[in-house]
Amino acid sequence: MSAVRDRCVVLGVTGGIAAYKAAELCRLLVGDGARVVPVLTESAQRMVGAATFTALASEPAVTSLWDDPPTAIPHTGLGQRAAAVVVAPATARLISDLRNGRSGDVLTATLLATRAPVILAPAMHTEMWEQPSVQDNIATLSERGVIMVGPVEGPLAGGDVGAGRMADPAEIAAAVSAALTPPSLAGRRVLVTSGGTREPIDAVRFVGNRSSGKQGAAVAVEAAARGAEVVLVTTEPSVEPSACLAGVRAVTVETAAEMAAAVEMEAPGADVVVMAAAVADFRPVNPAGGKLKKGRGVPTLELAPTRDILAALGAAKPPGQVLVGFAAETEDLEANALAKLRSKNLGMIVANDVSKDNVGFGHDTNEVVMYTNDGTRHHVSLTTKQQAARAVLDTVETLLAAERAETPAGASQ
Ligand code: CTP
Repeated sequence: MSAVRDRCVVLGVTGGIAAYKAAELCRLLVGDGARVVPVLTESAQRMVGAATFTALASEPAVTSLWDDPPTAIPHTGLGQRAAAVVVAPATARLISDLRNGRSGDVLTATLLATRAPVILAPAMHTEMWEQPSVQDNIATLSERGVIMVGPVEGPLAGGDVGAGRMADPAEIAAAVSAALTPPSLAGRRVLVTSGGTREPIDAVRFVGNRSSGKQGAAVAVEAAARGAEVVLVTTEPSVEPSACLAGVRAVTVETAAEMAAAVEMEAPGADVVVMAAAVADFRPVNPAGGKLKKGRGVPTLELAPTRDILAALGAAKPPGQVLVGFAAETEDLEANALAKLRSKNLGMIVANDVSKDNVGFGHDTNEVVMYTNDGTRHHVSLTTKQQAARAVLDTVETLLAAERAETPAGASQ
């Protein structure tokens, strides 16, 4: 379940041009189940209409301390009831006001009155962003625990390009969710793999597959949000924005052999290993060093099996470790998944039927069935890969608790 579901999230919008993107952030948070209260400053309302936010949030946008009819204690009420306050875009002025404890309108009052996590998505022109005074405010607020998302480099208003562009709304939504996620995996080490391996044919071609790396990255990000120390061994290091991957150590690999080496190095110390990567089962035996030229005739590819990384981990599984495999199937989902669960000595296998629309490889959505070694079966109907990742980690936590109960004291690493 999403960490923001049924939680009150105050969405502050200030008067930067990126204010129009805050509407998308509002939609994403509402889509995740949050009860969003939009709060627009006077300048924000010159950029975007309060009616847009009222409609998206199904909650009247708050624009003034002097509502008509008046609400009780408007300057503290919102801050006290918020589970999180996110400001996107956050202008240099809002940042300065928060740093200095200045409360001049309903948004700054809410920020001063809250004990909830505060997330800021700064957005301004590069010259402003690089001002020592602004940087000093950012550093001070960060030290005080305010969570900063972005800004990133890119096109700015007026045709300029540089640092100061507001982070992507999806990144900001992910940061809000992470801030509200209980640290249920604190102290745990989680190793995740993602992406499809590429086995070279020659200097420019490879044998590969359609895996995008999105599901594994979502598992890594969610595990980090739950407080785990996370290593992501991946062929797709840029699939998630850098802010989402904050707290995740990424190791980039390309071939099955490289993935095997990285995984075997990291796995012994891990409490949980999630093999979401689509590892090639076969590799070309003698890849050409240069580019194969078509004029030299049709080449014959001789293939050799790769090492089954997960099966090797299963055979050497330390006590207490939870091993999770993924099974991308096009037929006999349950039988194939259960066979892999047993033969690879796994705690769980996450199976998906990749022949279905919008499921698995390349999509942003997934539908999975999770089978555990203690006989449970849990179907997750078509949802985002983030939600699927949460379901996977919820089950992992149950398995970890069972392992802890079973593992004799002193036997775990
Ligand atoms: N896997 C692995 N090393 C391989 C092949 C697969 O670690 N050389 C892992 C995958 O990361 C996945 C699980 O094993 O977690 C199942 O992978 P899958 O490709 O579905 O199954 P295979 O065991 O390769 O069997 P098949 O291709 O016949 O379905």
